[in-house]
Amino acid sequence: APALIKVSLTVNGQSHDLEIDTRTTLLDALREHLHLTGSKKGCDHGQCGACTVLIDGRRVNSCLTLAVMNEGMEVTTIEGLGTLENLHPMQEAFIKHDGYQCGYCTPGQICSGVAVLGEIKAGIPSHVTSDLTQPITLSEAEIRERMSGNICRCGAYSNIVEAMTEVAGRQG
Ligand code: FES
Ligand code: FES
Repeated sequence: APALIKVSLTVNGQSHDLEIDTRTTLLDALREHLHLTGSKKGCDHGQCGACTVLIDGRRVNSCLTLAVMNEGMEVTTIEGLGTLENLHPMQEAFIKHDGYQCGYCTPGQICSGVAVLGEIKAGIPSHVTSDLTQPITLSEAEIRERMSGNICRCGAYSNIVEAMTEVAGRQG
């Protein structure tokens, strides 16, 4: 029999008490136990980014982390970023710039996009950043590099870059 464990998860500002198999990934806890199906299961192996969520503001592939490891953290999914009545600026920009086609990768892209702008603002270097003594500039190469873990089979990449560039510009 699977070993069950009690875990308390804070997702989108709400606390949930679950009793789950110790091996349950955060992605499965979200989708199957909390019925938050915005985060998608593409590969289940850390290779597509469709499952990306924010944990304490940082982007994480939720298929690669066990639910039990996230007790006490603030998990934010696409459902918590904005609502239909009150979209997050990144959601608005994806709509405006056609940053999606089938939409399967989109929740992960948007969660990553939000975190990436935070990383750039915080001066966290990437492989594109060669001179660490200079502030990081928001270039297309920088965005593409940082978003490279989020695969889009529909090839909406240039629209995603446009959407992120607009949000970054508005943030100043
Ligand atoms: Fe997690 Fe693909 S489903 S990275
Ligand atoms: Fe279809 Fe990205 S919009 S996979």
